[in-house]
Amino acid sequence: MLILGIESSCDETAAAVLRDGRDLLSNVINSQIDIHTRYGGVVPELASRQHLENIYLVVEAALQQAGVSLDEIDGLAVTQGPGLIGCLLIGLSFAKALALVKNIPCVGVDHIAGHLASPFLENEKPNFPYVALVASGGHSSIFLVKDQLTYQCLGRTRDDAAGEAFDKVGKLLGLEYPGGPVISRLAATGDPEAIKFPRAWLTPESLDFSFSGLKTAVANYVHNHQQKNEPINIPDICASFQEAVVEVLATKSFNACQQQQVTDLVLAGGVAANPRLRTYLQSRGEKLGIRIFMPSLAFCTDNAAMIALAGSYRLQESGQGDLDMDAYSRSQFVQPAPQALNHASGPANRS
Ligand code: KG4
Ligand code: ZN
Repeated sequence: MLILGIESSCDETAAAVLRDGRDLLSNVINSQIDIHTRYGGVVPELASRQHLENIYLVVEAALQQAGVSLDEIDGLAVTQGPGLIGCLLIGLSFAKALALVKNIPCVGVDHIAGHLASPFLENEKPNFPYVALVASGGHSSIFLVKDQLTYQCLGRTRDDAAGEAFDKVGKLLGLEYPGGPVISRLAATGDPEAIKFPRAWLTPESLDFSFSGLKTAVANYVHNHQQKNEPINIPDICASFQEAVVEVLATKSFNACQQQQVTDLVLAGGVAANPRLRTYLQSRGEKLGIRIFMPSLAFCTDNAAMIALAGSYRLQESGQGDLDMDAYSRSQFVQPAPQALNHASGPANRS
């Protein structure tokens, strides 16, 4: 069974060919970061145009690298949402056109389901049920994953996503977009204890996240120092900010494992590429007896291999596609928070 996966939800045009849900024959990613960096963030209209220009070339390259022709493809898997609607529509329309012309079944894949499938692209696989933290530019959610198609949303962000917080803090520090990779690089030379930024725990049992207060605390710290003409230490700010994000993401993920009585924890999404988060989870997991599963870096950030894999589970289940499907901007798997927001965060002590 050969699946062609297509991803175009944000600023990467990607296509991949996966055989039998196991062998990744190609994984092509065209990143638009160089274009959006000039504007300090993703410009949706520019992103859509780039997808339109690149999609044919990217899909062609994925087929070529896999050494297969379109006639050999048994199924198409395409990101249906969430994401930027204009961007999603390019991938979706392209996949539907291929499906119609070549009579290939085509399934829509939720982008979050793609990230949740990403650890299964690796040799070491978690056992069901397990807890998964998906932390990306658009999402920070915790799921109980019962099988390849059944997820229960245990927590979600009340405001900014973790990756969004990295990107916004990067912007206010004058760093290049996207902030995540730059901040993690600078943080490696900074002191994570230098500035005590707030951790938003919300209520003690809550598995929800809130990162906008932390972002504001960093902004206030920078502005206060600028007003007093005091120098700021960017690596220390990066390391202290990163530590606050990592501690909250990790602690709530381990709390979820404890609450659900599971011993396998998966980390996925672009923020899963953060080296500090990876080592922190690994070392705390060892102490707590929790096995940590993290996809390799190429499968953390957006890619079409994860979409092909998640699509293969759906094609196996339904056996056919749906050409009436439409793009959507919010994930069908992230349910809204049941209780009201309660900011019980710690004090924002600053040194
Ligand atoms: O999953 P992804 O590629 O796209 C979305 O689905 O949003 O995630 C992109 C996000 C960006 O916010 C980026 O800053 C963040 O992942 N990211 C990182 C790192 N690498 C990428 N955040 C922290 N540390 C990193 N090393
Ligand atoms: Zn993503």
